[in-house]
Amino acid sequence: MTNELVSGLIRSITLRLTDAGIEDASIDARILLRSAFGWTAAEQLGNLLGSAPAEHLERLEKMVVRRATREPLQYITGSIEFFRHQFSVNESVLIPRPETEQLVVQTMAFVLERKIESPRIADICTGSGAIAVSLALEMPAAEVHATDISADALTVAQQNTYDLNAELHMYEGDLLEPLSGQFDVIVSNPPYIIADAMHSLQPEVAREPSLALDGGNDGLNVIRPLLTGIAEKLKPTNSAAYIEIDPPIKDAVMKLALETFPHAGISLLTDLAGLTRCVSIEHA
Ligand SMILES: C[S@@+](CC[C@H](N)C(=O)[O-])C[C@H]1O[C@@H](n2cnc3c(N)ncnc32)[C@H](O)[C@@H]1O
Repeated sequence: MTNELVSGLIRSITLRLTDAGIEDASIDARILLRSAFGWTAAEQLGNLLGSAPAEHLERLEKMVVRRATREPLQYITGSIEFFRHQFSVNESVLIPRPETEQLVVQTMAFVLERKIESPRIADICTGSGAIAVSLALEMPAAEVHATDISADALTVAQQNTYDLNAELHMYEGDLLEPLSGQFDVIVSNPPYIIADAMHSLQPEVAREPSLALDGGNDGLNVIRPLLTGIAEKLKPTNSAAYIEIDPPIKDAVMKLALETFPHAGISLLTDLAGLTRCVSIEHA
């Protein structure tokens, strides 16, 4: 990478990323450049017609090479925005998706509507901690617990908890097993991709941990025991569980939820794209 004008550098990186099959190549080029140079968007704009800082070109080149192999942009920059906060991510965790913010919104709305003053909340399969940390920050009176089976994922969640100054109880272990007592709200974004679909993932998604994605032959390998665990640890009244799902498994999840929670109100919620994205289980 030669020392040239910033605008020319963005053009040449865009071409390289386009050749690698990346759709939003010009956006990625700008983000990589800002991250490598330590610039804000405004600084990038102001420097478009200036020379690129030579001392950062090697770092930028390494980032572009990684992105051209279809490594996710957020693993390269090391962060992503979720629910108004910046979360650190690396290859040990799923990159939190915008549609998952719905679990945070649903939980907050339920706690507010039911006037639960100091709710006990659990986030199962916490990954980077995006859901649990967001809930702890939005509802300081809540007692938030989070679990994950991956020690490496929990290291990332712990870092985010510390960086964002949140208070969480965090446990390594299988689903709800490490938790004691009962909860007002339980949320989870578990692995739910059907095994067959794991072979045709977009290259970036295929770089995320399979432990975070693979739901087994019918997509329900984790959801099945998750529902059983929730039934044991959800308070029997004035309580709710919200679980993110994938549209292809919605009927199977609905059937399981109806069997597991015969006395609850159960519904499927759609995301902003109109896709079924969440099963809601609410006790009166
Ligand atoms: C889809 S990711 C969700 C991460 C995060 N909650 C989010 O929404 O961005 C699923 C997470 O479940 C964890 N996981 C998989 N099986 C588990 C199990 N049996 N018990 C606890 N966590 C599990 C994975 O390590 C991964 O971090």
